[in-house]
Amino acid sequence: MACQGHYVVTGGAGFIGSAIVRGLLREGAGPIVVIDNLLTGRESNLEEVRARIDFQRADIRDYGEIAPLIRGAAVVFHEAAIPSVPRSIDDPAPSHETNIDGTFNVLRAAREGRAGRVVYAASSSAYGDTEVLPKVESMAPRPKSPYALQKLVGEYYCGVFSQVWGLETVALRYFNVYGPRQDPSSPYSGVLSLFMKALLERRAPTIFGDGEQSRDFTFVEDVADLNLKAARAKNVAGKVYNGGNGGRVTLNQAWAMLQEIEGVQIPAVYAQPRAGDVRDSQADTTAAARDLGHSPRFSFEEGMRLTLEWYRRDAGR
Ligand code: UD1
Repeated sequence: MACQGHYVVTGGAGFIGSAIVRGLLREGAGPIVVIDNLLTGRESNLEEVRARIDFQRADIRDYGEIAPLIRGAAVVFHEAAIPSVPRSIDDPAPSHETNIDGTFNVLRAAREGRAGRVVYAASSSAYGDTEVLPKVESMAPRPKSPYALQKLVGEYYCGVFSQVWGLETVALRYFNVYGPRQDPSSPYSGVLSLFMKALLERRAPTIFGDGEQSRDFTFVEDVADLNLKAARAKNVAGKVYNGGNGGRVTLNQAWAMLQEIEGVQIPAVYAQPRAGDVRDSQADTTAAARDLGHSPRFSFEEGMRLTLEWYRRDAGR
């Protein structure tokens, strides 16, 4: 069972959570407790670090199961969630239960167990379509999908736990995270993982809409770094920060870049735009840079090349 002053990563077997676990280990932080129900997470994401962490298969929807693991934690990184905008539209109940009720359970366990801080994985989807880019934390949220709303409720809950009960929380609004270990096997997977899988299999990807929608794609290592910084920063309790790169790339540009890297020409297939889709997304990183010391290190092209190499190796395993 967990001991005092440990680190907890919910969703720690997932793509982002496991990057945070490896970041913590690199910093020499410990002990580390990973909570994951393995719904979308995979134990193979923790393969090389398995012996150095305490892996607990538990579900954040079950308060009784997770409370003892969170009690006395120094920091809880709350990454467990059911992601995907279209998944939340096709099947809203499970994502509601995990993303809202599960987040409430994590916060309640952190408060009752006197945890030092909760760093919460919020989402850029909370902004919806804003008139102005880049998107700044002071803009009024306009969630367009159940997923966006659920992530926003989690953020509001963080703020309320901080104000009402003095729990230190920091919410990081991730902007379309990509990188090694992102699972490309579901239609709900992140678009770049699907693009790379299609590229390596020499298939045409599907682009929903005209492909001119844009995203601030953020490399997973930069997001993991930001989490570690958010865990240490002073005077940030109850605050919300963008976790993006500050750039903006259209899907057409992303697919063009991948074809160029690979030296192939495969025209994409275009389909109907997706319900709940945000048109443009780009982070203003001023506040995160100022208060948390956020400084993304990976350019889009660098991140894409590293990720593509990872999928190539993974496919060959
Ligand atoms: C949204 C959030 C993001 C969050 C993610 C969780 C926004 C701006 N971003 O991502 O912060 O982490 O949910 O799931 O809301 N697409 C295709 N072809 C495909 C798949 C997707 O064209 O095969 C398109 C989508 O229609 C969308 C874009 O690619 O326009 C990105 O989609 P996706 O990777 O699913 O992420 P978002 O929904 O943008």
